Amino acid sequence: MKALVKAKGEPGLWLMDVPEPEIGPGEVLIKVLRTGICGTDLHIRKYDTWAQQAVSLPRVIGHEFVGEVVEVAPGVTDVAVGDLVSGEGHLVCGKCRNCLAGRRHLCRSTVGLGIGRDGAFAEYVTLPASNVWVHRVPVDLDVAAIFDPFGNAVHTALSFPLVNEDVLITGAGPIGIMAAAVAKHAGARNVVITDVSPYRLQLAEKVGVTLALNVADHTIEEGQRKLGMREGFDIGMEMSGRPEALREMISNMTNGGRIAMLGLPSDEFPVDFAKIVTSMITLKGIYGREMFETWYAMSVLLEGGLDLSPVITGRYPYQEFDAAFDEAAGGRCGKVILDWTV
Ligand SMILES: NC(=O)c1ccc[n+]([C@@H]2O[C@H](COP(=O)([O-])OP(=O)(O)OC[C@H]3O[C@@H](n4cnc5c(N)ncnc54)[C@H](O)[C@@H]3O)[C@@H](O)[C@H]2O)c1
Ligand SMILES: [Zn+2]
Ligand SMILES: [Zn+2]
Repeated sequence: MKALVKAKGEPGLWLMDVPEPEIGPGEVLIKVLRTGICGTDLHIRKYDTWAQQAVSLPRVIGHEFVGEVVEVAPGVTDVAVGDLVSGEGHLVCGKCRNCLAGRRHLCRSTVGLGIGRDGAFAEYVTLPASNVWVHRVPVDLDVAAIFDPFGNAVHTALSFPLVNEDVLITGAGPIGIMAAAVAKHAGARNVVITDVSPYRLQLAEKVGVTLALNVADHTIEEGQRKLGMREGFDIGMEMSGRPEALREMISNMTNGGRIAMLGLPSDEFPVDFAKIVTSMITLKGIYGREMFETWYAMSVLLEGGLDLSPVITGRYPYQEFDAAFDEAAGGRCGKVILDWTV
């Protein structure tokens, strides 16, 4: 089969013929239909210091996908041949305290699809049946391909109750924009999203944010004044990974405000902890998705009319992966999709 492989310890990806994967006990074989390109995949293509220590070679990469089940191992009963599925890319150990307690997203020995195990940028991928989400209600294939980052957005956005609350989202990347759409849909009052990219702020406007603020030109305080807000934001979602974004968020929260932090900073950085203490701010780290409560919420949000179509801005046949990766790396885009059926 064709697969996109990190074959050498240097920048680049290689489209290669590799053996079709075989299923082990409890696993399913999936024919991949569409995949989404993630920041993680860009790091692996670039082969930066993170990728060098995280990925052993050769590795089929990719973790955001939708596909059709074509084979199931004996004894697998809840997934059937013909099911349309997306994959939970965090494979958990099943044995640690958190796994045993049913808190699988808190597993201490998670293996990442397309990082620690061969991934989904291929014609076929295998996964444990316990890692697939069967789409039981009709779903757009492009949207189904990005359930993994959509899940990051939903996990973050639904971390704290936000009905009637004023919400600040820093970073209008694909995940920030999806989180904004979820926050609006779920009943927030003001949803302010910030970025330094005019393209991305325009994209955010398409999902109905109250204010898309360019923090290269305006402060968040100015944004608050524009909306008639007087006491700061109730809920913050950090989705840029940038130190200055978290710092400004902290200084714009109301007392008792709650921050969910998904953005992954590349280095340590200082923040005003005295402000966090005296304003009694909660700061919660978010990694991945809750298995499978987040997935349930995603399907129900879409069923309820949440529209993610503005977030998907690029589609390429998998043979043109280099152009697709260039577009994703350039930042003038939302999610970029690879089609594996052409
Ligand atoms: N915790 C997790 O499980 C998890 C999973 C996926 C991604 N992530 C992280 O979440 C973040 C969002 O992911 P994405 O795919 O949407 O990333 P992205 O890189 O596409 O988006 C980040 C956005 O932040 C913007 N930005 C830069 N400086 C800013 C500033 N000062 N204020 C506001 N915005 C600023 C950038 O212009 C960009 O549009 C990234 O940091 C990513 O690494 C975390
Ligand atoms: Zn991803
Ligand atoms: Zn575990």
